[in-house]
Amino acid sequence: MTRLEFPRGFLWGAATAAHQVEGGNANSDCWALEHARPSLFAEPSGDAADHYHRFEADVALVAELGLGAYRFSIEWARIEPESGCFSQGALDHYRRVIDSCLVHGLTPVVTFHHFTQPRWLARMGGMGAVDFPERFARYCDRAVRALEGIAFACTINELNLPVLAARYFHARATPEQRAAAERALGARLSAFFLFADEDAILGNGLSAHAQARTAIRATRPDLPVGMTLAISEETAEPGAEDIRNERRERYYAPFLDAAARDEFVGVQTYSRVMSRPAGEAGPASGRPVTMMGWEDRPEAIGEVCRWVASRWRVPMLVTENGYPGDDDTRRADFIKAAVEGVGAAIADGADVRGYFYWSLLDNFEWLFGYRQRFGIVEVDRTTQQRTTKPSARALQTLARAARRDADG
Ligand code: BGC
Repeated sequence: MTRLEFPRGFLWGAATAAHQVEGGNANSDCWALEHARPSLFAEPSGDAADHYHRFEADVALVAELGLGAYRFSIEWARIEPESGCFSQGALDHYRRVIDSCLVHGLTPVVTFHHFTQPRWLARMGGMGAVDFPERFARYCDRAVRALEGIAFACTINELNLPVLAARYFHARATPEQRAAAERALGARLSAFFLFADEDAILGNGLSAHAQARTAIRATRPDLPVGMTLAISEETAEPGAEDIRNERRERYYAPFLDAAARDEFVGVQTYSRVMSRPAGEAGPASGRPVTMMGWEDRPEAIGEVCRWVASRWRVPMLVTENGYPGDDDTRRADFIKAAVEGVGAAIADGADVRGYFYWSLLDNFEWLFGYRQRFGIVEVDRTTQQRTTKPSARALQTLARAARRDADG
């Protein structure tokens, strides 16, 4: 690749999230929804990649791939199985995951809320519950006290996603699925994070982030705290520039304004959205699409880094970027092009401090189940055997070359 100047200390990593890989997250709202009949979910998460029991080998694999960081999430439904009742066993488990990262020389980047919540919280309305911010801050406080080695704290994953993708998620739910989901939750569907109401996100969600940041800083003033955001590259056909600008102001700006008070923001970009004069926004026409139906567009992440840097001063970590599909050759090319785009954005002044590929493992892709594969490591769900894909080696080569150039 062209020589790109990644700063010394730039984090090269891979990411996962608890519910998508651990397996057996039976006390979560998501598990209840997966087992509702009829379900919104294509299939239940079940044992997932059994990461809860296999984390040591998986963490060792991240290190073996020549990466320097591992982003994962801790599960609120395990740590606080009933309101106010904290599980030392669950906290000890996550302490062992962090220790394992440290033993392997990996920087642990920890997300406290990655979509799933305890069932008791869902019954109270999830993010819409009156005291959600206080409850979330209390959980973060307990976790950060117990988990000393965390190097970066991501409070809430993609806080803006339920606003950005509301129309999409709601259109997928049939009245029968919605009714079954609400019976399973014992609450309105908006209690589940992905279906949360916009006012709950902008009110309780942003306030929970701020209160969690205060709680975390009280114990660990040295720990960088941020949230992660789903940000698409936003482009417009001629005549649709206002629509694109409105999307930016509604879906991203309020969150980036809040993030500007943090030590970093996690940028998570998969593709681009084209606004059209007729009002609809979607994949650009006539372009190749991925298994998820998104435009195959590795350039999107670099463009998003540039756009964020053009308006906000907050340092960025690319906490997710990835390619869904079975064509691993394309995935390797996608990673190369994406990383080059990030490198070029940095060369032009964007303050980006890390790149985490999503995902380390083929895993549970929420409503879609296991068919959508993002991993650089394949998982055989019968034997749980891991097989490193060539794309993992492509990422390793890029990381190695970038580190060598930074050191030399
Ligand atoms: C989420 C991940 C998800 C990925 C791919 C992000 O929205 O943080 O949990 O698997 O995108 O859809």
